[in-house]
Amino acid sequence: MQKIQINGGKELTGTIKISGAKNSAVALIPASILCDEESTIYNVPEITDRDALIEIIELLNGKVEKEKDKLTINSKNLKNTIIKEELSSKLRASYYFMGTLLGKFKHVEIYLPGGCNIGARKIDYHLKGFEALGAKVTEENGKITIHAEELKGAKIYLDFASVGATINILLASVKAKGKTIIQNAAKEPEIVNLATYLNNMGAKVKGAGTSRIEIEGVDYLHKAIIDVIPDRIEAGTYIILGALVGKNLIIENIIKEHISSLLSKLTEIGVDLKYEKNKIIINKKENLKPFNVTTQIYPGFPTDLAQPISVLMTQCVGLSVLEETIYANRMGQVPYLNQMGANIKVENQKAYINGKTTLCGCDVEASDLRAGASLVLAGLLANKITKISKIDHILRGYEHIIEKLEMVGADIKIINE
Ligand code: EPU
Repeated sequence: MQKIQINGGKELTGTIKISGAKNSAVALIPASILCDEESTIYNVPEITDRDALIEIIELLNGKVEKEKDKLTINSKNLKNTIIKEELSSKLRASYYFMGTLLGKFKHVEIYLPGGCNIGARKIDYHLKGFEALGAKVTEENGKITIHAEELKGAKIYLDFASVGATINILLASVKAKGKTIIQNAAKEPEIVNLATYLNNMGAKVKGAGTSRIEIEGVDYLHKAIIDVIPDRIEAGTYIILGALVGKNLIIENIIKEHISSLLSKLTEIGVDLKYEKNKIIINKKENLKPFNVTTQIYPGFPTDLAQPISVLMTQCVGLSVLEETIYANRMGQVPYLNQMGANIKVENQKAYINGKTTLCGCDVEASDLRAGASLVLAGLLANKITKISKIDHILRGYEHIIEKLEMVGADIKIINE
């Protein structure tokens, strides 16, 4: 079994360059099949989620050329095929083929998506959105069939500003007849990145980044290019690492505005941050103040950084409280952090973290992607050796994590045992 082995307790110094955002790339890649010509995406992170999406496009008879961080996707000869469970279950974002295939062929057959086990993760808002556009949805033994004779623009109000539902409805409606309005839409930067890509193809999407998105359907989408935005969650993870063990640790290629909720928390507790254009330089500080975080939709504190920030809370002097409000089960790192020496109690998705505690390496398991990232941070901080199993979760979402950390002085490697 592959494991990540870390010999922790070292100061890290040098530069980590942030890659393209996983959660943008996983929407942009499926969106490419809506294009009637060839489309190109730059700055795509080399993560296993990317490869799983490429496999699905190839199953659909699309052509994908990979050249480092560039992907060229040609869907001229696309054939609508059932997306098998073994492919759909590899990742969450396989469900974006619901929106794109419905938009392109008005018919989709796909099995339920996979992804991190962090709560129920229902897709009822996605399906209600498709129905509002005129589609009929049926489900049988995990296979979802969505069919429409015609897709017609509609006014859709989301009960919750779901990222996935906003993206899926956007994808299904760019070629629908007439105008679609998504109210209470998610505002995450990844949605703006997607809307820009679709508009570059000739789509008519207005208001992305606000809670009201308007889409005027078009018949044809032409050749286009897009850059994936920098990954705000990867950036946040390494910035937190800097607060734990950084000595002039530079995190480069960031968009500060995308992580302002994190940066203001770090400033509030006394972390030493210096800004330079698209970089942040971080130095570890002793005696950090305890603090509270409640996860929220963007621009609130991101749920995807809650697990990494829990490691920093173990190093603050006093009681910090972390409340997770987006998912029902996103505290998978806690038992392992406690095993390493932390003092954390969880009640109803609220973690009470008493610091400061000394962490000591041991054998731990990545229960999901961000739990895995937080165990990497804990391992880099801890004394002695930490071995993390189930690392597939981590490699799904962090590009070249081992190489990036080695470059700044970490003693980290993948072992087989
Ligand atoms: N929800 C419903 N019904 C729906 C859709 C969502 O009840 O139809 C609930 C979910 O069960 C969940 C909450 O709403 O409790 C949040 O779901 P949302 O749809 O906003 O999230 P998502 O689209 O499933 C994306 C990212 C997540 C990230 C969230 C929030 C992708 C592939 N996933 O998930 O990323 O946490 O937005 O920002 O883009 C990660 O990267 O580690 C990750 C989990």
